Amino acid sequence: TSLNLAPSSLLETAIRSAYVAGNLMTSATASDKGVEVTKLNKKDLLTKIDPLCEEAIKKTILARFPDHLILGEESVEPGPSASSMALSSFLEKSRATKKPLWIIDPIDGTTNFVHDLRYSAPSVACCVNGEVVVGCVFDPYANETFWAVKNEGAFLNGERISVKPEACLEDSVIAMGAPPGKLSASKSIKGFEGLLPKVRTIRMLGSAALMLGWVACGRLNCYWEWDLSSWDVAAGGLIVEEAGGRMRGLEEDTLKFDVSERKIIADDGKCGNDVREVLKESGLF
Ligand code: IPD
Ligand code: CA
Ligand code: CA
Ligand code: CA
Repeated sequence: TSLNLAPSSLLETAIRSAYVAGNLMTSATASDKGVEVTKLNKKDLLTKIDPLCEEAIKKTILARFPDHLILGEESVEPGPSASSMALSSFLEKSRATKKPLWIIDPIDGTTNFVHDLRYSAPSVACCVNGEVVVGCVFDPYANETFWAVKNEGAFLNGERISVKPEACLEDSVIAMGAPPGKLSASKSIKGFEGLLPKVRTIRMLGSAALMLGWVACGRLNCYWEWDLSSWDVAAGGLIVEEAGGRMRGLEEDTLKFDVSERKIIADDGKCGNDVREVLKESGLF
């Protein structure tokens, strides 16, 4: 059955589909990158290219695996409740039909894409039995391909990567989200205020998927965000874990990465507990 698929064929398809989308991104003209509509609010953007990338990724996956299920950001109504509901219904369907479920973000970092800030990336993950087994995040500007296969490690452009913990929180570089929702923005502001005096610095670079890749290869010690969707974290979460880091729920010490977790903290295996403590002291939860 499809559950006995070799991880390598899933990985190859994940990478190939991320490349197809990445090429669409880098060949887009300035007018292609204009905002077509705003979704939840004026901070939540959509260009012509997002759905094109989503279609291209889907087409690439279905050409190889016609019966697999695919959940993509641009095929779901905007907003956290629709995204959580879509995930549960796709996971349920995947369980019932025993078909793998792909979770894709055609462009993670659309705001960066619109403003020509060169930090955005397609993110492609495949789940079998509800668990992410393969993930790829492709940065088409830096030409960096992050990928991971469950139990087989994490790689950047073919080289194995691992997290790089610092001695203490004071030496750690933390990244966080600046999410479009009101509640998550106010949580982020509180968290920023509490954390900044206690760490080396904080970065907010606008692509959760890429930041997870950067935690995995040791450029960042930690990434946290208050409200993300499955397509933001599915691939990057596996990449962090396979690089020896931890991908956990922000509030609870979940032992293992779960794609339905919306408040997440990824770390180098060391500073995450301290970061979580500071966020708690800052009144986030
Ligand atoms: C967004 C990015 C951003 C994060 C937002 C996400 P999108 O994804 O990952 O870094 O702060 O919460 O929604 O909409 O650009 O795919
Ligand atoms: Ca979006
Ligand atoms: Ca995203
Ligand atoms: Ca997106």
